[in-house]
Amino acid sequence: MNVLNFGSLNIDLVYQVDHIARPGETIASSAHQVFAGGKGANQSAALARAGARVFHAGQVGPDGQWLVDKLAGLGVDVQHIRVGDVPTGHAIIQVDRHGQNSIVLFAGANAQIDRGAIDTALSHFDRGDILLLQNEINDIAYIIAAASERGLTICLNPAPFGPEVRAYPLELVDLLIVNETEATGLAGASTLAALAALCPHAQIALTLGAAGAQYHSPTEEFDLPAPQVEAVDTTGAGDTFIGYFLHGLTANMTARDAMARAVQAASLCVTRPGAMDSIPAADEID
Ligand code: ATP
Ligand code: RIB
Repeated sequence: MNVLNFGSLNIDLVYQVDHIARPGETIASSAHQVFAGGKGANQSAALARAGARVFHAGQVGPDGQWLVDKLAGLGVDVQHIRVGDVPTGHAIIQVDRHGQNSIVLFAGANAQIDRGAIDTALSHFDRGDILLLQNEINDIAYIIAAASERGLTICLNPAPFGPEVRAYPLELVDLLIVNETEATGLAGASTLAALAALCPHAQIALTLGAAGAQYHSPTEEFDLPAPQVEAVDTTGAGDTFIGYFLHGLTANMTARDAMARAVQAASLCVTRPGAMDSIPAADEID
């Protein structure tokens, strides 16, 4: 079973600050680092680190080849990533003294993916394969519909949430993974019941930060607490959770075991700085 992740690749410009800048305020940062990121690329990295066979599709500019090389080095198949002329997407990330973040995105090449590239990538995948999507590239509704037509299982993480998500063909989604903000934006409440009303046949995972995560399917529902850890940077926690959870499902773990492993991996991620670089390896979870 292959996972095709059609998603963003970003250059993360990270600034360590005392507190997140308030409207009208100018603040100094105490440290600055450049990391590989993007929800799409992070989730491919997490899938690969967990042990899944993952293909990443997407687009970077000439300044983004190092992101492609980094994913390839982690074991991600990068043959469906295009390098074009539009600059790579980037994220300006403030991380405060509690490890909380605030992110401004510039989509760049992530928003310039053409239908030819989408159709070509999808043509290599069939029934039994999984399509994973976030909300940082263009043409999501088209990709969902085209992949569903080919018989792929559709996994959607509608992050970051925007009102356009409500118009996506959510009835085609088989696995929905959201945090509380995305759940509220999508369903009006961060509850499994509200989400299940939108995607009645889907498996649903709702992540709750330090409080852990909840799972729902038409036949099963449960909560899992997160281990108590000292968070230094939560960036990439959701992406780590998704990569490990999806890998667990593709490896035929029960939903409970896959969720438990995902919660464990994400709690390790928040103890380390950066996004992709903070994703733990499978043997650290074992
Ligand atoms: P982010 O955007 O920061 O990457 P997110 O908002 O998508 O994350 P969260 O619900 O905040 O997603 O976190 C995802 C998972 O990460 C949680 O379900 C939990 O397992 C783990 N996690 C996040 N924050 C903490 C924390 N402070 N302590 C322990 N685990 C955490
Ligand atoms: O989920 C974390 C990611 O969100 C960061 O790597 C940043 O690029 C933004 O896309």
